[in-house]
Amino acid sequence: MDLFTAITQRRSCRRFSSDPVDESVIGRILEAAAWAPSPLNAQPWQFIVITNAAKKQEIFAEAQRCRQWACEKSGWTWLSKYAIDFLTQAPVIVAVVGDPKKTGMDQFQEQGPMAYQHACAAAVQNMLLAAHALGLGSLWFTLFDKAALRAILDVPTEKTPIALVCIGKPEAPPAPVPRKDVKGKTTYLR
Ligand SMILES: Cc1cc2nc3c(=O)[nH]c(=O)nc-3n(C[C@H](O)[C@H](O)[C@H](O)COP(=O)(O)O)c2cc1C
Repeated sequence: MDLFTAITQRRSCRRFSSDPVDESVIGRILEAAAWAPSPLNAQPWQFIVITNAAKKQEIFAEAQRCRQWACEKSGWTWLSKYAIDFLTQAPVIVAVVGDPKKTGMDQFQEQGPMAYQHACAAAVQNMLLAAHALGLGSLWFTLFDKAALRAILDVPTEKTPIALVCIGKPEAPPAPVPRKDVKGKTTYLR
């Protein structure tokens, strides 16, 4: 698949079929993740591949709790109707965990270590594009409390859960999602 086609045709998938995804396919998606750029090529990511139903149920329960918290905190009533069943439906969830020590120069700057998170985000985008190129749907999911997810996945406190990536065959083609014209977001200093 042409890269530009993959970039524009990838969509977030929130309804998955229960068909399993072969570990070799997940391996290819993680290989794509590992080719993401990172500060000083520190590769500050780790991947936890979750297919265990009980673990997925724990993640779902945490996301439900976090959704309730977010509803109250934000006052966004629409959020209570946001269905997150895909966390138990998706055959695979990959947790992307970052290492704040494997960051770049930014650790000496005012805002502290952030570049490792940017690198993990680049790895996630590679995963989404690779999944799409392999005919799979995916979702970048972040509605969780970091401490709670650490406890569920046995991640040490010095590491940061960045994202959960749900992967599987789409149950139905995801709806198109428009983009604003990039010209309105671009300034040229010629
Ligand atoms: C950092 C980040 C966090 C996101 N978190 C969530 C999430 O928690 N739940 C969700 O359903 N989608 C999440 N998304 C997906 C966005 O909602 C989605 O990318 C956006 O609506 C555009 O749709 P598209 O991916 O189909 O183009 C997240 C995306 C990014 C980049």
